[in-house]
This record gives sequence, structure tokens and C-alpha cells, in this order.
Amino acid sequence: MAKQTIDFAKLIQQDRERRQQQHWQGTFIEYLDKVKEDASLSNLSHRRLHDMIDSAGLTEINPESDPRVQRLFGDEPIKTYNFFKDEFFGMERTLDKLVRYFHAAAMGGEESRQVLYLMGPVGSGKSSLVERLKRGLEDLAPIYVIDNCPINEQPLHLIPRHLRPAFEEMLGAKIEGDLCPVCRYRLMEEFGGRYEEVPVRTVSFSKRGRRGIGVVPPVDPNNQDTSVLIGSEDISKLDRFSEGDPRVLELNGAFNVGNRGIVEFIEVFKNETEYLHTMITATQEKFVPAPGRHGTIYVDTCIVAHSNEAEWQKFKADHTNEAILDRIVVVKVPYNLRLSEEVKIYEKFLGRSKFDACIAPHTLEIASMFAILTRLEPTAKCDLMTKLRLYNGEEVVEKGRTKKLTVSELREDTKREGMFGISTRFIMKALDTALSRNPKSIHPISVREALIAMVKEADLPEDVRKQHLEHLQDTLHKAYLELLEKDITKAFIYSYKEQAETLFQNYLDHAEAYVTKSKVRDPNTREELQPDEAFLKSIEEQIAIIGSAADGFRQEVIAYLWASSRRGEKITYTAYEPLKEAIERKLMNSVRELSRIITKARTRDEEQQQKYDNMVQSLIESGYCEDSVDVILKYAANHLWRD
Ligand SMILES: Nc1ncnc2c1ncn2[C@@H]1O[C@H](COP(=O)(O)OP(=O)(O)OP(=O)(O)O)[C@@H](O)[C@H]1O
Ligand SMILES: [Mg+2]
Repeated sequence: MAKQTIDFAKLIQQDRERRQQQHWQGTFIEYLDKVKEDASLSNLSHRRLHDMIDSAGLTEINPESDPRVQRLFGDEPIKTYNFFKDEFFGMERTLDKLVRYFHAAAMGGEESRQVLYLMGPVGSGKSSLVERLKRGLEDLAPIYVIDNCPINEQPLHLIPRHLRPAFEEMLGAKIEGDLCPVCRYRLMEEFGGRYEEVPVRTVSFSKRGRRGIGVVPPVDPNNQDTSVLIGSEDISKLDRFSEGDPRVLELNGAFNVGNRGIVEFIEVFKNETEYLHTMITATQEKFVPAPGRHGTIYVDTCIVAHSNEAEWQKFKADHTNEAILDRIVVVKVPYNLRLSEEVKIYEKFLGRSKFDACIAPHTLEIASMFAILTRLEPTAKCDLMTKLRLYNGEEVVEKGRTKKLTVSELREDTKREGMFGISTRFIMKALDTALSRNPKSIHPISVREALIAMVKEADLPEDVRKQHLEHLQDTLHKAYLELLEKDITKAFIYSYKEQAETLFQNYLDHAEAYVTKSKVRDPNTREELQPDEAFLKSIEEQIAIIGSAADGFRQEVIAYLWASSRRGEKITYTAYEPLKEAIERKLMNSVRELSRIITKARTRDEEQQQKYDNMVQSLIESGYCEDSVDVILKYAANHLWRD
């Protein structure tokens, strides 16, 4: 056999062994021993889902240990759940509510008798969340079921009512629910009521196998047949069996299938109210009608529904729906509004697709900025770009000071933020378009072009379109040029970081001497010098600190420096945001003229050519590919340094 064939065979063999190990088959009385060993076998569906999320573990981030987290979330410790960690970004609040629902429901609280309803705009991740839960179920160890039961029911249902207290005591487990009509019939007919002999076996969750995972798509309003939910009677068998014989039942509705696990309602409010009533009884009373005249069937399932806000509002406005409304736990799934996390969504998306293009720096950042700008509500407290930066946990410098505006303050004023704007899918489509135009590389310029074209074509109200285009053509154009100039500056200045550090240290030395009215010692000559005010000013003016404002600024810098050195922090030029910005701008200014001449020149002398080549090399090292370097340098020449 070829080596590869052996590998295949090994993989198949291992998988089969693992499955066989997990598999169990026996009689009900043997199953009771299993439950005695492990009472969690009697867990209901909500508990199962809760434990599934919980067992993956969580990380609690203490805001005290991270200033950015503190800026983003305030003083509350924030939890991230490993179960969702690698796939969902910027959804901490939503996930926290979701987990809380499962926690309360697992405890058997009122929530276990309510529908979990995810409400959010298109492409906010509702379906993906439910998919994640379903996938999680499929990864779980198999559950124990009555062999051949059409709804995979819990074997403990076999225990007659009057014996349940005694069994519960012996097993240390709770017993809830009743036998389905089919199992009841078989118990009598096949086993003569000797339930201890009924065969039990394991079954694993499977979406495609329709085991423990039921899905209800929105149903065609002309064909509202409840069989989708509760199954039907097999007409061909009706004349073979007597009336009331459960063998005619086809228990393949979503609630039958989803027993022990989950039932998902997609775009739930598109369905007729009659449907919703079945949903409500299933969750509230934990039973659904059996088709025909077969009574009711106990179901243990977690009902998760989702739809967008418009459908929810329409449904809510109808007073006849009050009873249903009361039995729904709403969890909002708004769009993410944090730049760093939005970028991760598209990294995930590109990572999954088969493109292996080079993605120029800031490409996903600019696309994400656009998405978020369209999702923000304007505020009188700052402009939208500042809001975006604050929501990203950044410190924003204004007039030489970091802006004292908190995320929670901004959020307080909002009404529907995160519930409107451009969807993740829209951005992904734009990335796709840019990639199909040039499969080798994409850059902010090509993506922005794709976005502009899509916005022009999209079915949007005129004022919204205008707003979006303004973001793309004005706000983001400027934002990108700033990023680009910084990149080019860094590429021009050999050892940029070191130079920034030197400026920073010099500034601190001179500012400290100035504030404490002392002198600066020259590190080489050991001479004592007056603080160099001209130098201090040359830095400060970069962030518009001039005249009398300088004294205050220097004092603040020194106070900040002392405070951080008392805390034993290592201080670098990035430590104090206003000063960092001033230093970076100073460096940018110092090479602006040079960059302009060299980048724009059609012919370069030898020295210029050398500098140009070095810069290109440095850009490539920082993540650009040759293709995109060309484009962005042309862009810079045309827009950054216009004559
Ligand atoms: N915050 C997020 N983190 C990670 N991925 C996200 C996030 N928001 C959206 N996505 C991704 O965006 C895509 C669209 O999401 P999904 O299909 O789940 O949206 P939806 O809310 O069900 O939309 P619709 O209302 O149109 O059905 C998915 O690939 C999803 O993974
Ligand atoms: Mg969806």
C-alpha cells in the first residue's frame, strides 16, 4: 500500500475506534447504573448547552490590569468565553447575556420555559451564533436514548410516576417528562410493560442526521402546515393500523427532531401566529401536540429564534401577540463597533476563503472603519471619527490633551446604535470584488473603490447613500492619507523607533529641567545647560501647543512621567499619547520635503535613487508587496504632497 493509503486507513480506523469506545448499548436497568455513576445523564437540554459553553472555560479580564480594557468597559471585570473566542469578535455584551440566559435556564429558572430570541440587523452574526451552538452539540459525547425511539427520548421516562420519588432518591437525579406515544405502545406490546428490559443506546447529535438539532425555516404563508413542527401521520399506514395506533406516526417535525438539544427558528416572525403558539407551548408547557389523535408529546429542547429588528417591531406592535411576547427573552445582537475586532471578522473571512492574495497594511482597517462609521449615531460631544477611536479604546488627543470622554458616556446617549449601518457581508463582498479585480493583492485604494461602486449601486435612501459616500470619499480618504504618511515616514527614517525614543528622552530631560527650574547635564561634555526652550517648542507646536499653554503641558508630561516611574513602568515614547503624537508628527515633518521630492520625481539622481530604493525595501519589509507599493506611492504622490 502507498504511504498515503496507510495514513487514510489509520485515520479511518482511529475514528472508528473512538466512536466505538463512546458507543454503549444495554438494557434500561443497566442504564440506571450509568445514571447512578453520573447524574449529569439526566440533564435537560438547557443545562447541556450551558455546560457545553462553560466547560470550554472563560477568561476574566480585570480592567485594572489593562488601561484599554478599562476605557472600553469601565470598571466591571469582563468575561470572554473560550467557546466563542476564535469566531466572534466584539460581542462581549451579547455573549454575556446569552450565557446568562443559559445559566438561569440550566438552573431550571423561568428562562428554561422561555424562548431565546436573538434580534439584530442583517449580518450581525445571529445565524453564526446558533450554528456555533449546534456545532458544539455535535462535538459533545453521545447521549443515552431509548433504542428506536423516534424522538431519542430520555430512558428515565420509562419509570412510572409512582416510583419516581424513590428512583430520584436512589439515583440522585431528577426525572422529568413522559414517554412518547410510540415508546408507550412498544412498552406494552413488545415488552409487556417490563420496562427494565427496554433497550437503551447512545446517539450523537447531528444536524444533518436530524438528531437533537431541529431547524424551522420561515414557512411559505400559503402552505402553513404544522407537520414541519410536529410531524405527521403516514397516510399509507392508516388502513393497516387501527385508529389510535401510534405506529402511523412520522415524528419528524422540528420539535421531534430537536428533542434533547435545540430547535432553531429562522426569521421567526415571518411565520403565522399559529406556528408561534406551538413554539410557545413547547417552551412553556414542554409539550407539543402529536399529529392526529395521539395526544401530546413531551419535548425537552432549547428554542432559539432569530430575526431582524423590523420584524420584531412589527410583531411587538400587534397587541394580540402579548402572550407570546411575555415568553421571549430578547438578546440583542448588534453590529460590532470596535475597529480592532471588526478587522478580525474580515481576517477570519479571508482566512477561510481560497484567496492567497497579499493584503496591504490598513486594507482591512479602512474597510472596517467604513463599516463602523456607518453604524455610529452622531453625537454633539465629538465627531464620528473621534467616536470611532474612543470606541476602539484609543486615547484621542485634542489640543494637546487626551480627550476626557468615556465610552460609557457616549453610549448613554445612543438609541439604536449598532442596529443599523453597513453589514459585515457588504464589506466581505467589497473585499471579494477587489480581489477578483486583482487576485494578487488588495490595498485600501482598491477596496475603497469597490466600496464606492457598491454604495452607488446599493438600494439605499438617498441621504444615507450621500452620507456613506462622504465617509468613503472624505473622512476615510483623509484617515488613510494619515496612515500612509506615517508608513512612508517610517520607511524613510532609518531606525525610526530609536529616533523617536531619542527625541522623547531629550524632551523629557529638557522639560523636567524647565519645570523644576534646574539644568540639563550634557551627556557627553557633562556641561550644565539651560533647558532648550526652542527645542521644546518645536515639539509642542506639532500638536498646537503654543504660548502660555506650554507651561501646563510640560508640567502634565512630567507629572505623568513621575507617576508612571513610581509604578515602575517602563517608559517609552508611546507612553504619553499627546507627546507620542507630537514626536511622530515632528519626525514626519522632518522628512516631508524629502519624501515629496523623491517620491514625485520622474528622474532621480544616484543618491535619491538609493534613498527611494531603501524606502521601498523598508515598506516591503513592513508588509507591503511590490504590487501595492507602486500603487500606494503613486497615491501618496498625487494626494499627500500636492504642489
Ligand atoms: N461580531 C462578529 N464576529 C465575528 N463574525 C461576525 C460578527 N458579526 C458578523 N460576523 C460574520 O458575518 C457573517 C454573517 O453573519 P450571519 O450570517 O450570522 O448574520 P445574521 O445575523 O444571521 O444575518 P441575517 O439577518 O442576514 O440572517 C458570518 O460569516 C459571521 O461569522
Ligand atoms: Mg441569518
